Amino acid sequence: MTILVTGGAGFIGSNFVLDWLAERDEPVVNLDKLTYAGNPRNLGSLERDSRHVLVVGDIGDTRLVPILLERHRPRAIVNLAAESHVDRSIHGPDHFVQTNIIGTYHLLQSACAYWSALSGTERDRFRFLHVSTDEVYGSLDPDDVAFSENHPYAPNSPYAASKAASDHLVRAWGHTYGLPVLTTNCSNNYGPFQFPEKLIPLCIHNALAGKPLPIYGDGRQIRDWLYVKDHCNAIRLVLESGQVGETYNVGGNSEHANLEVVRTLCRLLNDMMPRANGATYQELIAFVSDRPGHDRRYAIDSGKLRRELDWRPMETFDSGIGKTLEWYLANQDWVAEVTSGAYRDWVKTQYGR
Ligand code: NAD
Ligand code: DAU
Repeated sequence: MTILVTGGAGFIGSNFVLDWLAERDEPVVNLDKLTYAGNPRNLGSLERDSRHVLVVGDIGDTRLVPILLERHRPRAIVNLAAESHVDRSIHGPDHFVQTNIIGTYHLLQSACAYWSALSGTERDRFRFLHVSTDEVYGSLDPDDVAFSENHPYAPNSPYAASKAASDHLVRAWGHTYGLPVLTTNCSNNYGPFQFPEKLIPLCIHNALAGKPLPIYGDGRQIRDWLYVKDHCNAIRLVLESGQVGETYNVGGNSEHANLEVVRTLCRLLNDMMPRANGATYQELIAFVSDRPGHDRRYAIDSGKLRRELDWRPMETFDSGIGKTLEWYLANQDWVAEVTSGAYRDWVKTQYGR
């Protein structure tokens, strides 16, 4: 048996592929377009592992995807491929519409054609698992209860809107054509291999370089942080035992304001890697213009996943952030590689002002 993972060279995707092959002896075909966010080096440890095949291509390629499905005959597709950075979606929504909406549509069509031609057990056991985000639910007020799976969709950024559209397409393909779909909506992930344009790796990278740690607005926006490997476990569990047609929210039950997150990083870094000039990392914190339309608070109620599939996160925020820092300190060469070239242009566009 084989599974097809899309976006498996990105942050969550590469963690997922590595964990999958460590936990299961089932090959992975990894379809990834290798945008700026995709890095085959994340999968370097699998170079000689015949259970992993990386195919460079687009989920929206209506010629390539059917060929891949026919050739490898996967029993499941795990769709992680997406444009994922909110700030980039504000500067240039095109790629988000193209990959997250049109790409998902084409992938669903290819999956549906493949699945419809299956029979017997192959057809019964096939699953299409779509990995999505809590951002589709919009923003919460301080006293609101956390997002459950029944919370109305109210996406606020072009990224969130494109992911919401993809969730609706997945739902419709399940409802109308009977494609055996599953959807997960997860909160903010952090951990190894996260591209340093997202808050936590960006601040680690800047802190080590003695550069400002940019805090949007007042820094009191709240996110629900989850260590990436806990997300990967949840995806595996939903794929194995989730009810077809259902949605599962995944979260860390770990709400923290951005400023608090960055201060925690600074405190840990003060101990692990004191600055040469004797100053603290906190002194690098710099308040900058807010993100347009910035959502104030996300919080996930993952009670359904806990009750039905017995999932719970293994890491607390403290243990997860410690592991993450250790990984970034030990993998400065990885950071140096991804922070060259195109990444620099992005930093200029976003923070140049
Ligand atoms: P990422 O940006 O790090 O990686 C995305 C990967 O998808 C990259 O490897 C990229 O090359 C690939 N890709 C992009 N467009 C493609 C296309 N058209 N065809 C094939 N591959 C393509 O993203 P991530 O943070 O790893 O997120 C993965 C998924 O999880 C996304 O769907 C995202 O919406 C969702 N998600 C992310 C988080 C988070 O905190 N990072 C939380 C919840 C859900
Ligand atoms: O909630 C899940 C989502 O989490 C995923 O769907 C997205 O793919 C993922 O990128 C992430 O989105 P966020 O916008 O929450 O992540 P980001 O790391 O960009 O920002 C986290 C918070 O930190 C957010 O409130 C904005 C703020 N921020 C971010 C950056 C990059 C800053 O204050 N300064 C910064 O420089």
